[in-house]
Amino acid sequence: MRIVVLVSGSGSNLQAVIDAVAAGTLPVTIAAVGADRPGTGGVRRAAEAGIATFEVDFRKYDERADWNRALTEAVAAHTPDYVVSSGFMRIVDQHFLDRFPNRYLNTHPALLPSFPGAHGVRDALAYGVKVTGCTVMIADAGVDTGPILAQAPVAVLPGDTEETLHERIKVEERRLLIETLTDLAAARSTVGA
Ligand code: GRF
Repeated sequence: MRIVVLVSGSGSNLQAVIDAVAAGTLPVTIAAVGADRPGTGGVRRAAEAGIATFEVDFRKYDERADWNRALTEAVAAHTPDYVVSSGFMRIVDQHFLDRFPNRYLNTHPALLPSFPGAHGVRDALAYGVKVTGCTVMIADAGVDTGPILAQAPVAVLPGDTEETLHERIKVEERRLLIETLTDLAAARSTVGA
C-alpha cells in the first residue's frame, strides 16, 4: 500500500511511520513526503530516510485554488493509495479530495468533534477537560471533520502545559496512526482492493 505523507512541522509523527516501515512492522511504502512550506523538519527527516520529497509553497500562489491544484498534482505524481496529513496545517479543497476520494487520512491531537482547528491541545487545556486525546479520520473539506476511524484518550495531568500535553498526545497519535495504516493495508491485502 503506497502513501504520501503531508507535513508542515517537525514531522515527529512522520518519523514514527518511517521507523515502523524500516522495522518491517508496517507493510506500507512511503512514496513521498510533501510540505506546504520550505524547511520543515518532516521533509528533512524524509530526505534523510531516502524518501522522495516535494514542497508546494503556499506563499508562491496568489490563489488558494491554484495551490490546491499544484498540491494535487504533486501528490498524484506518486500514485498513493492513501494521503496522510500528519501535522499538515492547511485545509485542502474539494478538487484535492475528489482526486483521492475517501483516501485522505488526518490525525488531530484532540477527541473530535471536540476542539477542532489548529489549537486543539491549547483549547482542551484552556477548557479544563480532564481527558483529551487524539483522532484519526478520513478528512473531508471541513476543518477536522469527516468519518472518524480511531481515537485514543490521554489524561490531562496537573501542571500540564500545552507542550507537555501535546507531546504525551503525540505518543498516542503515532500509535493510532500506525495501527490505522496497518489495518488499512491488511484490508487491502485481504480483499485485494
Ligand atoms: C500533531 O499532533 C498533529 O496532529 C498536529 O500537529 C502535530 C504534528 O507534530 N496537527 P509533528 O510535526 O508530527 O511533530
